[in-house]
Amino acid sequence: MGADMDTMTPWPYPRWIAHRGAGKLAPENTLAAFRLGASLGWRAFECDVKLSADEVPFLLHDSTLERTTDGQGSAGDLPWGQLAQYDAGSWHSRSFAGEPLPTLAAIAAFVRRNGHALNIEIKPTPELEETTGQVVAEHAARLWAGDRVPPLLSSFRPESLLGARDAAPALPRALLLDTLWTGWFEMARSLGCVAVVTKHVLMDAALLAQVHGAGMRGLVYTVNDTSEADRLLALGIDGLITDAVDRFSPAVG
Ligand code: G3P
Ligand code: MG
Repeated sequence: MGADMDTMTPWPYPRWIAHRGAGKLAPENTLAAFRLGASLGWRAFECDVKLSADEVPFLLHDSTLERTTDGQGSAGDLPWGQLAQYDAGSWHSRSFAGEPLPTLAAIAAFVRRNGHALNIEIKPTPELEETTGQVVAEHAARLWAGDRVPPLLSSFRPESLLGARDAAPALPRALLLDTLWTGWFEMARSLGCVAVVTKHVLMDAALLAQVHGAGMRGLVYTVNDTSEADRLLALGIDGLITDAVDRFSPAVG
C-alpha cells in the first residue's frame, strides 16, 4: 500500500467526519447541529445539499419536507423565501424549536470562519441531478474561493458529479456507493474522483487496495459502532462519517 499512497493526491481532510452536522444529537443538517458538533471538538462535517425551486442551495436530506420540518411536499418545488419560513428543529426536540433550514452559504460562513472542513453531499431532487451538481459546485467554488481546503463534493448520482465537474473542475469529487454496482470503478475514475465513499460494510482490504491503487482515497459511512470503526481504522481507511459524535473522539486516529 505504501507505494500507492505516494501516488495519491494529498488529503487535507480530518479522518473523522460528523454526519449531517452532529449526527442525531441535534436536528440534522441545521446550523445548530454544526454548532453542537463543533462544541464537541468535531472539525469536519458532512451535510446534504439540494436546490430550492429558484436554485438556492440549502441543506435537507429528504426530497420531501415532512420528516424534518413542519412543511409539506417536495422541497425542490418551493422557492427559498418559503423554505426559509419552516421550522426544521421542532421535530427533533423542543429545545431546537424554530431552527431554520440553512442555506449552503450560511454553513460556509460557519465552517470557514472556524477552519472546519466540509463534505457537501449533493442530494438532488429527482430529475434535477445534473443541474443540482452544477449549481452546488458553482456556489461552492465561489463561497470557498482562495481557501486552502476546498469542500469535498460527493454524490451517489454520477450525473451530479458530472455537473459539478463541468461547473467547477478544480473542486474535489467523491463517488458515494451503497452497493458496488457494475461499472462503479470506471465511473469514479472517469469522473476524476479523488475518493470513493462506501457504505461501511462494503469496505474491506481488497476494496481499499483497489481504490488506493487508482490513486483515490477510501472513506466510509455511517460508522456508529466502535468495533466496526476499529476494523476500518486497521485497514487504513482515509475517512469515517459517523452519527456517534458523543462516542468517538475526532482527535484520535
Ligand atoms: O455522505 C454519506 C452519507 O450521508 C450518505 O447517506 O442517506 O445519510 O445521506 P445519507
Ligand atoms: Mg448524506
